[in-house]
Amino acid sequence: MTDSLTLARPDDWHLHLRDGAALRAVVADSARRFARAIVMPNLTPPVRSVDEARAYRQRIVDALPAGARFEPLMTLYLTEATTPADVLAAKASGIVHAVKYYPAGATTNSQSGVTDLSRCDAVFATMQDVGLPLLLHGEVTDPSVDVFDREAVFIERHGRALVERFPGLRIVMEHLTTRDGVDFVLAARDGVAATLTPQHLLMNRNAIFAGGLRPHAFCLPVLKREAHRAALVAAATSGNPRFFLGTDSAPHPRHAKESDCGCAGIYSAHAAIELYAEVFDAAGALTGLEAFASFHGADFYGLPRNTDTITLVREPVPVPDELAFGDARLVPMRAGGTVAWRLVASA
Ligand code: DOR
Ligand code: ZN
Repeated sequence: MTDSLTLARPDDWHLHLRDGAALRAVVADSARRFARAIVMPNLTPPVRSVDEARAYRQRIVDALPAGARFEPLMTLYLTEATTPADVLAAKASGIVHAVKYYPAGATTNSQSGVTDLSRCDAVFATMQDVGLPLLLHGEVTDPSVDVFDREAVFIERHGRALVERFPGLRIVMEHLTTRDGVDFVLAARDGVAATLTPQHLLMNRNAIFAGGLRPHAFCLPVLKREAHRAALVAAATSGNPRFFLGTDSAPHPRHAKESDCGCAGIYSAHAAIELYAEVFDAAGALTGLEAFASFHGADFYGLPRNTDTITLVREPVPVPDELAFGDARLVPMRAGGTVAWRLVASA
């Protein structure tokens, strides 16, 4: 049994860092583990321009603990007002690495999202030309579609057509949650990939109802049934470079989750790589963790792989019931429980 694991420092290819006091409360957790992160733009108001991305990037850098080395890779929030010129400016900036699609109304701060994908054709064509990836929150919001089917229906109604209509567009299916999604990514042309979160790899939808209603297990896309979780684990541990790490760590204050209308999002940054180590260990695939966490994402984005390392040791680490979060409190994934790996050192 492997009790110690050293791997090239990983990156988080899907992360919510928030802003202000919340940002200051969480960014150190990510910076301790990851060299870089693709930072989601769903602030209020959203990050829609290079200027806004540059300012947000600076606030992230300013919030880092002294001595931390962590590179925020910025994204723009796609709206129906986004123009090809915005895409050209993003590419030229060197700090914006992708554009994020949210279907209007799908999730936290998605009011400004897109209601009709075909309105974005000129933007997608420009992204294809300049090689700027499109990150998809791949769900439909049609109220007649069952919430557990939103991803599969998105693929049928929009995903397949998008991939074929823009054959050179680099596309990431973010936080993939279903076997349908895995099959779609596996069968797609080159340039189509997916991120996988720790919660979708470790939990199925029973977690939302375990002994009562569990708001801290609620995220979007919502957890799915066990057969889907198993398909995600098989994809993550397969060694296929189309699948890589993206936590979707998404902190909300405790009161906003424990509410009549609780927010979607699970905070995992405090133990992110440790949780993925649990997944790979349980699948007998620990040696594959490094490629999934540290190589595949960098290769997809055309960025250099990290050359420093982190080390994990097999040792139970208690997770606090809650963490400080500005003026509020934050309930982390596995709160009150233990994580099976400890992050010991960086080099
Ligand atoms: O669970 C989620 N939380 N899913 C998302 O798509 C957004 C995120 C957030 O920002 O809270
Ligand atoms: Zn997200």
